[in-house]
Amino acid sequence: MAKTALLKLDDKEYPLPVMEGTEGEKAIDTRTLRASSGYIAYDQGYGNTGSCESQVTYLDGDNGILRHRGIPIEQLASYSDFVETSYLIIYGELPTPALRKEFGLRLRKNAAVETQIQKILEGFPTSASPMAMLSAMVAALPAYHPELATNHFENDLKNFDLAAAIAISKIRTMVSMIYRYQKGLPFMFPKQELPFADNFLHMMFSEPYQDYVAPPEVAKALNLVLLLHADHEQNCSTSTVRMVGSSQANMFTSMSAGICALSGPLHGGANVAVMQMLQSIHDEGDDGTRFIAAAKSGSKSNRLMGFGHAVYKNFDPRAKIIGEACDTVLKRLGIDDPLLTIAKNLEQAALKDDYFVSRKLYPNVDFYSGIIMRAIGIPMNMFTTMFAIGRSPGYIANWKEVASNPKGRIYRPRQIYVGPKQRDYVPMNRRGE
Ligand code: SDX
Repeated sequence: MAKTALLKLDDKEYPLPVMEGTEGEKAIDTRTLRASSGYIAYDQGYGNTGSCESQVTYLDGDNGILRHRGIPIEQLASYSDFVETSYLIIYGELPTPALRKEFGLRLRKNAAVETQIQKILEGFPTSASPMAMLSAMVAALPAYHPELATNHFENDLKNFDLAAAIAISKIRTMVSMIYRYQKGLPFMFPKQELPFADNFLHMMFSEPYQDYVAPPEVAKALNLVLLLHADHEQNCSTSTVRMVGSSQANMFTSMSAGICALSGPLHGGANVAVMQMLQSIHDEGDDGTRFIAAAKSGSKSNRLMGFGHAVYKNFDPRAKIIGEACDTVLKRLGIDDPLLTIAKNLEQAALKDDYFVSRKLYPNVDFYSGIIMRAIGIPMNMFTTMFAIGRSPGYIANWKEVASNPKGRIYRPRQIYVGPKQRDYVPMNRRGE
């Protein structure tokens, strides 16, 4: 017997169905609330509101659990790689050897970006935000693949596999193009024979007459960073992809919007803010005490970046994995990064400080990711575009859920109006009377 919640309001009762997810998550289904009671539910920022049912990722913020299609992130980090995890997130199952080969080939065949798209880059000053450039280039993809991006769910789903491969593979290539455009270097064409991460590193760091061959530990570290960013339930940018996709906008357009949302410093931009914070602490010879004191002021502009999370009220499992990987990767690369020491000291200090403990503020995925990306040679201003490459399978899987939902509807939240009551127009000659 399905459970119901009973809302008592203005001496009336409104039964509301209760929903329960695979892992026992419960929700009160308020879809009939407005029609029956005239009331809407209010939840600023949707922190306590489910916008959809999804089969892709499960998060338990209180217990620091993250699973993609049921598989724990710890196991994927240990045994999988970014391409295989992307397949799992998009298609729901780990690929057989044949499917893995086919998917990999689709990615390799769709790595080159149309020459004209380079002109979009040239429309930006080299100092422009890499995320702005990336979202602009992704927004251009429908123009080059109109048959894959018709803004009609049924048509676009018919060509989903190719569109998904283009999105993941070309976003990766575009990031390397942005890096080389900003450095004034010639673009490097992808090499079909190279695996995903190695190909990216080739396109980033090869010279015209001297190929960059990524050391295995560097390619492995990059795979780990991308894999750990692959999806994360209904975060700000993924919800944006779903919001835009719900208007029947194609996958590329919806992903471009998601990239814009990801760019904010409270979201994907935090990995840059963390490194700026660590660098500033290092440059001032501070041990982090000043930063922690400032972070406790409560103002959004002074936050301990890389700490806290809208869902995790325990350790972000990805932060644990990346934190441990930092030691191994830097040791293997023979790098002694003072910022890693500062980050660890900061973490230890904050985890003993009641301000952070009482607010359940722990390191999140962005706290250590920059250290590894810096060790790989990625410049800081490109860190958030790396997050975008990693998150591309999550955006794709969520767009597909929206496009495939026969009962889906356009996202259209309501509001509580708090503006002026009705009043009359005042002619210019009587204003200021
Ligand atoms: C990502 O959603 C996702 O899943 C995102 C992500 C993904 O994979 O997609 O996990 C990736 O975006 C990780 C988060 C990266 N952002 C940062 O590291 C920026 C620093 N963190 C915060 O700004 C903050 O923690 C948020 C934005 C991440 C979460 O904000 P919430 O849940 O809305 O928390 P809040 O703003 O309501 O803060 C609650 C309290 C406040 O204090 P009080 O008003 O109760 O006194 O905690 C304080 C805040 O001032 N607080 C912090 C803090 N984060 C929250 N104080 C100091 N430093 C911080 N980092």
